[in-house]
Amino acid sequence: MDEKITELTQEAVSAIDQAETLEQLQAIRVKYLGKKGIITGLLRSLGQVAPEARPRLGQAVNSARATVEQRIEARREQLAAELTQARLERERIDITLPGRVWPRGRLHPLTQTLNDIKAFFMGYGFEVVEGPEVETDYYNFEALNIPKDHPARDMQDTFYLGEDLLLRTQTSPVQIRVMEATKPPVRIIAPGKVYRVDADPTHSPMFQQVEGLLVDKDITFGDLKGILAEFARHLFGKERGVRFRPSYFPFTEPSAEMDISCMMCKGAGCRVCSEEGWIEILGSGMVHPRVLEMVGYDPEEVGGFAFGMGVERIAMLRYGIDDIRLFFDNDLRFLHQF
Ligand code: DAH
Repeated sequence: MDEKITELTQEAVSAIDQAETLEQLQAIRVKYLGKKGIITGLLRSLGQVAPEARPRLGQAVNSARATVEQRIEARREQLAAELTQARLERERIDITLPGRVWPRGRLHPLTQTLNDIKAFFMGYGFEVVEGPEVETDYYNFEALNIPKDHPARDMQDTFYLGEDLLLRTQTSPVQIRVMEATKPPVRIIAPGKVYRVDADPTHSPMFQQVEGLLVDKDITFGDLKGILAEFARHLFGKERGVRFRPSYFPFTEPSAEMDISCMMCKGAGCRVCSEEGWIEILGSGMVHPRVLEMVGYDPEEVGGFAFGMGVERIAMLRYGIDDIRLFFDNDLRFLHQF
């Protein structure tokens, strides 16, 4: 029996030392120390040995059990430590790795330009309003003093949607809608998309305009000049030369186009300004009395000025872009430059 105990102990110990997982270890515990385990069985069988041998053998079995127990416990601790170590190794975070870069979006150059335009006029108390892109003939032409056979209609090749319906060719109809709906004083700008049958490096079938309208008592051409010249310098720099040139629009009288001195050649004449030294940036004028009458205003009582500009054109001049289509290609290499 002594021999058997020694053998069993050795066998158990070597099994314990070879156990690779906590599950294997648990199985060993059951095999030797469980209720039906081998060592437990030996303890039980002590009743059958000779009484004089019992104390010695009892002690031997108990000490075997203690050995196996201790060994299991030691191995368990070791395995647990190894497992923890392996997990830590697996979950290790390298804090020296660079962080993930979140690409940052930015505003489209047209949006930036439009925001600047809006901010300037809002500073002068202009309210930003919008109108529909699908317009009637009346608002887009008739009410702006452009009757059916007026040659000015040819200046703006129109996308018609029906007899009377069209894609607006200008933001000027918003002037009419605002004046019909409100009494003077009026002080608005109206940004928005407009459409014309036109496509080349400087014209797009869809582009954006900003319309402006101010109507009140005692408004003069001097008011128009003052605010628009200030606007030009705000957008293009304090040193910019500004001039007003007589022009024609059916809905204003008198009418003027505003030029700024060419930013490329500083007025000397170059390709950008067609050797003029000046570049046109907007149309403007004193609101035509007939337009005021058509919306029910009294031209004897109130008067005002209006202006309209192309956002793409202004952005092209500002950033030195020579092809309008770049704005709509959505090429990130282009857009990232702004
Ligand atoms: N609507 C004109 C265009 O598209 C621009 C314009 C000129 C608007 C003079 C105005 C203005 O309000 O007074 O060419």
